[in-house]
Amino acid sequence: MTGGGDCSGLNAAIRAVVRAAERKGHKVVGVLSGWKGLLERSYRPLSLSDTSGLLSLGGTILGSSRVNPFKVPNGLKRCLENYRKARLNALVVVGGEGTLKIAAALSAKGLPIVVIPKTIDNDTFGTDATIGFDTAVQVAVDAIDRLHTTAESHDRVMIVEVMGRHAGWIAACAGIGGGADAVLVPEEVFDFAELLEIIKARTRRGRGYSIFVVSEDARIRLPGSKVLRTPVQHDEYGDVKLGGIGEVLAREIRKRTGSEVRVTVLGHIQRGGAPTAADRILATRLGVAAVDMVLKKEFGRMAVLRGTKIASIRLEDAAGITKRLDPALLRVARVFFG
Ligand code: F6P
Repeated sequence: MTGGGDCSGLNAAIRAVVRAAERKGHKVVGVLSGWKGLLERSYRPLSLSDTSGLLSLGGTILGSSRVNPFKVPNGLKRCLENYRKARLNALVVVGGEGTLKIAAALSAKGLPIVVIPKTIDNDTFGTDATIGFDTAVQVAVDAIDRLHTTAESHDRVMIVEVMGRHAGWIAACAGIGGGADAVLVPEEVFDFAELLEIIKARTRRGRGYSIFVVSEDARIRLPGSKVLRTPVQHDEYGDVKLGGIGEVLAREIRKRTGSEVRVTVLGHIQRGGAPTAADRILATRLGVAAVDMVLKKEFGRMAVLRGTKIASIRLEDAAGITKRLDPALLRVARVFFG
């Protein structure tokens, strides 16, 4: 099953699970559209021939959704009953923060489950990297490279708004990889005066343009201590919906400097297309590890990357905790501000 928001590399993980399981003589059934598929008993068999071409294919052939059994009447109970009716031996779930919480709850109720961490946000606790993060960063870096030349031609301030929810991993890594003049992340309130100083200092050095990377949940302190943040909205599933901080920031910069400012919101482009080599390799390693864990009956755990090795962590030790941006990365990004 693939649950929650999709990302590049999910199909590579599906391929790895199917291949590893078939090699040991086991059969794999795909649950369609995340937890929705388990609630509605919607499945498809997955054979070796279904996996050809999957390594480099974005999205997920199983489909995904944000349907959350916690928010559906008798959701967990129905998942357990349907799982039993399907006569399966184990459930391998590729998911992020929300999926992990559901998996931990089902595991506590006796469902034999193994999780593979994925999310472009890279905010899953217990793993050094999640499937999809590297591709999202690469997309953002490519965009920043392209924005550099047009920013320079027009002497403009370019704001690049990236995803990441409440963690600044994508913003910080894209900022470092793309050579941003400032990076604004949810983990720290950025001083607006510092942004203005960066623009001025660059202009003094003959650089009439600047590139700022802004995380969708970034906070900016204006003079007089008002803090700018995107108004909280909710999606169809009651999840927090972010986006729009780039435009809010652009208005303030225009108002206070008279600079020409343009905003690029990368949005779901960060989640689509072919996975990078790093994501293909990570997804494949985690997929193979998940099957090993199933065969050893190491249930109630998530396969993770720790340093250069694949390890595992108990679901209850990782669920509900957001892995915030490593401040060391922000310190590196700061060396290149201005
Ligand atoms: O969690 C992944 C993510 O892409 C976040 O970075 C973003 O805030 C959210 O999902 C967008 O969700 P949706 O696809 O439901 O619009």
